Amino acid sequence: MTLIIEPEQGAAVKQRNKNFINGSKKVFIESYGCQMNFSDSEIVASIMEKDGFSITKQYKEADLILINTCSIRENAEQKVRNRLKTYNGLKEKKPETIIGVLGCMAERLKAQLLVEESLVDIVAGPDSYRDLPNLVSEVLDGRKAVNVILSKEETYADIRPVRLSSNGVTSFISIMRGCDNMCTFCVVPFTRGRERSRNPVSIVNEAQDLYNKGYREVTLLGQNVDSYLWYPGGGLKKEFSSLSAEEQKESVNFAQLIERVAKIHPDLRIRFSTSHPKDMTDEVLHTMAKYKNLCNYIHLPIQSGSSSILAKMNRGYSREWYMERIKSIREIIPDCGISADIISGFCSETGIDHKETISLMNMVKYNFAYMFKYSERPKTLAERKYEDDVDEETKSSRLSEIIALQQKHSLELHRQRIGQICEVLIEGVSKRSADALFGRNTQNSVVIFPKGKLKAGNYVHVKITDCTSATLIGEVV
Ligand code: 5AD
Ligand code: SF4
Repeated sequence: MTLIIEPEQGAAVKQRNKNFINGSKKVFIESYGCQMNFSDSEIVASIMEKDGFSITKQYKEADLILINTCSIRENAEQKVRNRLKTYNGLKEKKPETIIGVLGCMAERLKAQLLVEESLVDIVAGPDSYRDLPNLVSEVLDGRKAVNVILSKEETYADIRPVRLSSNGVTSFISIMRGCDNMCTFCVVPFTRGRERSRNPVSIVNEAQDLYNKGYREVTLLGQNVDSYLWYPGGGLKKEFSSLSAEEQKESVNFAQLIERVAKIHPDLRIRFSTSHPKDMTDEVLHTMAKYKNLCNYIHLPIQSGSSSILAKMNRGYSREWYMERIKSIREIIPDCGISADIISGFCSETGIDHKETISLMNMVKYNFAYMFKYSERPKTLAERKYEDDVDEETKSSRLSEIIALQQKHSLELHRQRIGQICEVLIEGVSKRSADALFGRNTQNSVVIFPKGKLKAGNYVHVKITDCTSATLIGEVV
C-alpha cells in the first residue's frame, strides 16, 4: 500500500518527467550501517535496473538518489542527516532530482523526514523495496510517497542482487530478515520487523551462481543466523517443536543450510554473521568442523560480561552460558577466530559490571571486536523501562579501556601466528601499497603480502613474518 502526501507542481516535475521519458534515468545508491543494509542495497539495485534505471556512482548525475540508512546508534542517524543536507544542496541547483530514504531510518522517521523537515521525496522501509518503482511514479506525478509497511513474508528470495562495488571475490547473501529477540537496547526489531527465513533452495542457487561467476567467498547474513529455520510455505519464525511432523521432516535449520552451501564446491568459502550465544548449537559447530570451506570464524556478540546487565539487556544468556559456548567452540573447532560486539555504559552499569566485561575479555581473548558506547534509542524497551544513567564521561572512559584491551589481545594473537603458514583467499590490492595484495585467512584476519604474479580470487599459502594488531604480514610460500 502506498500512502500519498501533499501535491507538488511546477517546472521541477516537468523536467523530471522529461528525464524519465528519455529512458536515460540513473540511480545513485548509498549505504550506511550493517552488512545487511549493503546487501539490501544490492536488492534495490536489481529492482531499479529491472525498472529501466542504470546505476551510477556519481550522485551529481543521478535522477534518483537513494540512501539506505541505519538507526542503530544516534550518531549513525546524524551522519545520514548530514548527507541529506548535501543532497538537498544539489537539489537547489537541480530541483528535478528525486531523493529517497530507505532502511531503518525510513521506518523510524517517515513523517519527520517527509513533512516536517521536507528533506526527501520518497520514504521506503526495509520490506517495501519492490514498491520503489511505484513510489517513483507517485513522485513523477508531483506527490511525495511513503511505504514503510513491515511484512510477515518478504525475503526477496527471487531477486538476484546486482553486486555493487564488488571485488568479484567475496559477496553477501541474506538468508533471513527481521529479528524476534527484543534485546532491550536495540531498535532493529522495530525497524526491520519480525523474523522470517528465506527458502534454502534460493540461497543455494544464489551461492552457486556467485561461484559460477568467479566468486570464492560468501557471507550468509541474518540478525540471528542460529535461529534460521525454514519450513514448507515459509513465513514468520516458528519453533521446530511447533511444526507438524511433515513440516519438521522438510524443514531446514542453520546447520543443514551451511552444509548445503558448503557442498557447492570446496573452493567456495562460507562465513556467516551474526551468531547468537543463546541459540548457537553444537550441531552448527560440528558442521563447521566437518567442512574445511566453512571458515573457522564466529562473530559471537557478548554485549556485556555481567550477568545482571545481560538480564537487563534481555539477551537470554548469562556470563556462564556464554563461556560454556566459547568452550564448545574451542573443543569442536580448534583454532577458531572469535569476535564480539561489546557495549559500554548500558543503563545502571556499575564499575563492577564493567570489570566483569574486562575479565570476560581476558578469559576469551577475542581476535577482534566492535565496541560501542550505549546510545539510547526511541521506542526500545530500555528507553521505556530504564534510565540512561551512566554519564558520557564514564561511558567513554570504559569504552577506551575496552578498546585498549582489545588492541592488546589482537596484537598478542597475531604475534602467535608469526612463523605459521596460513591459507589466504586473495581479495585485491592492498590499500597501503600497490605492490602488495591482501586477503584473509580462515580466522578472518587480514593478511598482506607481496604481489608477484598473483591475482584476486586465487588461494595462496602465506608464511607470516610480521604483524600489527590489525593485520598479518607475510610472504607467499
Ligand atoms: N547502543 C549501542 N550499541 C548498540 N548496538 C545495538 N544497539 C545499540 C545501542 N542502542 C550494537 C550491539 C549490536 C551491534 C550491531 O550494535 O552491540 O550487536
Ligand atoms: Fe538487535 Fe538483539 Fe536482534 Fe541483534 S539479536 S538485532 S541486538 S534485538
